[in-house]
Amino acid sequence: MQSKYTENEKAPLNSIEDWEDDLLVRYPEPKEKQAKAKEDYRNYHDSERVDTVREFYRLNHKYQTYDFVVDKENEFLKFEKKEMPFWDAVAYLNTLVDDSDPDINLDQLQHLLQTSEAIRADGHPDWFVLTGFIHDLGKVLCLFGEPQWAVVGDTFPVGCKHADAIVYPEFFSDNPDSNDERYNSKYGVYAPNCGLDQVKMSWGHDEYMYQMMKDYLPEPALYMIRYHSFYAQHRENAYDHLLNDHDREMFKWVEKFNPYDLYSKVPVPPDAKALRPYYEDLVAKYLPATLKF
Ligand SMILES: [Fe+2]
Ligand SMILES: [Fe+2]
Repeated sequence: MQSKYTENEKAPLNSIEDWEDDLLVRYPEPKEKQAKAKEDYRNYHDSERVDTVREFYRLNHKYQTYDFVVDKENEFLKFEKKEMPFWDAVAYLNTLVDDSDPDINLDQLQHLLQTSEAIRADGHPDWFVLTGFIHDLGKVLCLFGEPQWAVVGDTFPVGCKHADAIVYPEFFSDNPDSNDERYNSKYGVYAPNCGLDQVKMSWGHDEYMYQMMKDYLPEPALYMIRYHSFYAQHRENAYDHLLNDHDREMFKWVEKFNPYDLYSKVPVPPDAKALRPYYEDLVAKYLPATLKF
């Protein structure tokens, strides 16, 4: 099938990690928390990255409409694409290499392990550790040929007005929903404080993985997976008017998770091989042996 998007439109970023590196610029780790040698954050090509990340958000904000999300949900939430044993899925995700910078690049598994090991080191419950380990597994969407802006990037509600607190809000002027009366008011298709479960989010790896995991993990873990890229809420509180009290309670977990996701890069990567038995047990405790993608 001919893609609707050009190659440049599908992959504006040199690497999908450029989105997360850019998050570190927007939300730097508080000074007092920065470790001495934690300067492994990629800072090369910074100005080039600014341009590609901007282009990435231009496309994301233009194309992530309410109808686009409905289409993607119909396409992917049937989970008919591929069936993989859990560890094959991890290996598969790891074929998503960052060709922009092979030297400093950490593979996807390293990001997952660094996140989960930082959570484990702080003594959190095992399901929290597991959440760190799987939170980005949904990025396999990239390997199914999906455009980068439909896999990663900040997520936001569709079906109501786009908050100014979303990064590059001006790009929403190209989104057809901005001129659609059904979708461009404060509440749009939603009722005040209806609860996020009623709210459609822009499509990406967060919602996809949440839907895959929803029967297996405790609710705080599911909130962390589902909303970890919803910076306009967990950092900016721009959608308080859609949250209900239960969401507010659960977002404490989303906020707890975020620093592990953003600030857990360490100079010496965890030893994936040595850690494997621990994670095999942990995965087996909560998840089915085979996952449907
Ligand atoms: Fe993520
Ligand atoms: Fe992540």
